[in-house]
Amino acid sequence: MEEDKSTSPAKAEVRILKDGPIMIKGVIRFRDSSGNVTTGEQELYICRCGGSANKPWCDETHKKIGIAY
Ligand code: FES
Repeated sequence: MEEDKSTSPAKAEVRILKDGPIMIKGVIRFRDSSGNVTTGEQELYICRCGGSANKPWCDETHKKIGIAY
């Protein structure tokens, strides 16, 4: 995996949504587990219920099983 040496600023809002996922919205630099990097305006929803079939992304399974913590 190659190190990302970009110095571009990142500005984003991170919110824990009530009974739902973690939302990250704004200009961010995102690196996946394979090292692929995307930079720009994004709106991401990260699963925190553990039930998503598409982890790490929220697939709205939390609406059926709830958030345990
Ligand atoms: S928080 Fe939405 S599927 Fe887990």
